[in-house]
Amino acid sequence: MKKSLMLLLASLLLVLAACGNSTKQSSNAGEKESQKKNEKSEVNLYTSRHYDVDNELYKKFEDETGIKVNVIKGEADELIERVKREGTATKADLFLTADVGRLYRAKEQGLLQAVSSDILSKQVPEKFRDSDDMWVGLTKRARILVYNKDKVKPEELSTYEALTDDKWKGRVLVRSSESVYNQSLLASFIGIDGEEKAKEWAQGIVNNMARSPEGGDRDQAKAIAAGIGDVAIMNTYYLGQMLNSQEPEEVKVAEQLGIFFPNQDTTGTHVNISGAGVVKGSKNADNALKLLEFLTGEEAQFTFAEANYEYPVNQDVEPAELLKSWGEFKEQDIPLTVLGENNAKAIMIFNEVGWK
Ligand code: FE2
Repeated sequence: MKKSLMLLLASLLLVLAACGNSTKQSSNAGEKESQKKNEKSEVNLYTSRHYDVDNELYKKFEDETGIKVNVIKGEADELIERVKREGTATKADLFLTADVGRLYRAKEQGLLQAVSSDILSKQVPEKFRDSDDMWVGLTKRARILVYNKDKVKPEELSTYEALTDDKWKGRVLVRSSESVYNQSLLASFIGIDGEEKAKEWAQGIVNNMARSPEGGDRDQAKAIAAGIGDVAIMNTYYLGQMLNSQEPEEVKVAEQLGIFFPNQDTTGTHVNISGAGVVKGSKNADNALKLLEFLTGEEAQFTFAEANYEYPVNQDVEPAELLKSWGEFKEQDIPLTVLGENNAKAIMIFNEVGWK
């Protein structure tokens, strides 16, 4: 009796132990399954954009979709080189940058794949999408003139070309030709007027520079306030950021500036885009597409407009009040790919005319 009780207990223990094991095994399998799911629920973003608002938007996307956004930041050309180097092993799913010239370059180097969806087609006008669906625009920015209101009357301004007149000698401020914003500006002139004219323009600006190029767009505005020059070329959103800056000094500088959209009676003001394309061989291409759809959707477009003063590409979303107060303007009417196609020529011209 005592022996059989012990046997019973022993077998019970065995059963229990076995049960325990099997539960452990199945929970292991469950963990692996959910890990696998987690692995799928992510998107690796290689981005050269440098604005705080972007992180806010990625967080919103994560909250809404459960898809984790892993952000790798770098200079656009570095990121392009990195994707190339990583080859088929690359973890990059989406390449995002603040200049169409670099999107063009990524496409030309075979690093992107075509993606399209009804949602993207509805949210982004054709003009701001690649003809082969390799990239889509996210936001627009105009490259405008700002001027010292005490020294320049708006009637004195007209076109980018007019800044090469002798009257502007020693008065023009603009950043280095290493900036893709300037490369794309000159590339647009090559597309509109040809190389010869574009070179004349670049030479004319070099002749009239108030100083050798230094700093970013914001620094040109600051140089106007410091009396170094009278008119500067800069992107719209930088001015919006300065006017709404936490730093009183930046607000003060920006308030001294007048805003002018050049070439309104001729070829239109130069417009560039921020945009993104899905990387060829992406392991999370569906998630990358979802992120593109999110970033071009109304909520994100509104945030880009309100928090970063960029013009939405989505026609259903209005620009921020500040930008609306600057009025509507005529944009250059050229395919954006022209900016990419002429990038190398633009750099060559900058070198030839000595635009640092
Ligand atoms: Fe920028």
